Amino acid sequence: MQLVTEENITDLAAERWASAGDPRLAQLMTAFVRHLHAFAQEVRLTETEWMAAVQWLTRAGSISNEKREELILASDVLGLSMLVVQMNHRLDPRATPATVLGPFHIEGSPELGYGGDMSDGVPGTPLLVHGRVRNLAGNPVAGAVLDVWQADTDGAYESQVPDIDEARLRAKYTTREDGGYCLRTIAPKGYTIPMDGPVGELIGRTAISHFRPAHVHFLIDVAGYEPLITHLFQEGADYLDSDVVFGTKQELVVPFEPREPGATPDGGSLDRPWLEARYDFVLQPRG
Ligand code: BEZ
Ligand code: FE
Repeated sequence: MQLVTEENITDLAAERWASAGDPRLAQLMTAFVRHLHAFAQEVRLTETEWMAAVQWLTRAGSISNEKREELILASDVLGLSMLVVQMNHRLDPRATPATVLGPFHIEGSPELGYGGDMSDGVPGTPLLVHGRVRNLAGNPVAGAVLDVWQADTDGAYESQVPDIDEARLRAKYTTREDGGYCLRTIAPKGYTIPMDGPVGELIGRTAISHFRPAHVHFLIDVAGYEPLITHLFQEGADYLDSDVVFGTKQELVVPFEPREPGATPDGGSLDRPWLEARYDFVLQPRG
């Protein structure tokens, strides 16, 4: 019989979890137990605090559904999501860096042609984003699919707007033979993460800014290259230095240049002022 003491409880628990049949699971669980115990010991966790944490996790689980993932949000604001991205996407320095996926990507966006408008009547300042998708050697990558999504000017993504039956501010674009892409949308604004749940409750007890800087999301996929999940951020936007989910990188900050009404890069034209962002995405070969 093993008699438990404060000194041996960590080893006993770790040994028990080391029995997992899958060696990776055994590694994950024993390390988790050791770090969890070390945390409790370091802060001398009280029973009241332990219960508060359990109830917080219960509330985070209960508020989650297919449109809201409070525990992913918790991982995001703790910097864990971005740490996992960094460790798993150590790309060539020439490649466009990856950043967090976030909770608002929706599968199956409509396919639009070169210059196609994914804002389709959603009010805002027109924004054209264009450039090329290239490989590390600088050669064009044809047939790459850019899956693009963003929030409206109130900071709401499609899944946060009730009673929508059509895709809103999201679309897929495919690069041409020269690697070129051009998308039309509206200029995004900075927005707050959802603050009406347990994550917001906790953030509200700190001095942490709960905003993200204005950005457009991209998921770029094509055979032979690592899929790239990234964002483009507006140069000069608020919160670039304090992104609540740690997702901002200097290489992803681009100017949104003001343009007068007139010709647009897709060969069309606009009868009101618009913004132009140019960006070349560089993909890392799969491997
Ligand atoms: C987003 O950019 O859509 C996002 C990412 C992480 C948490 C909340 C929102
Ligand atoms: Fe976003």
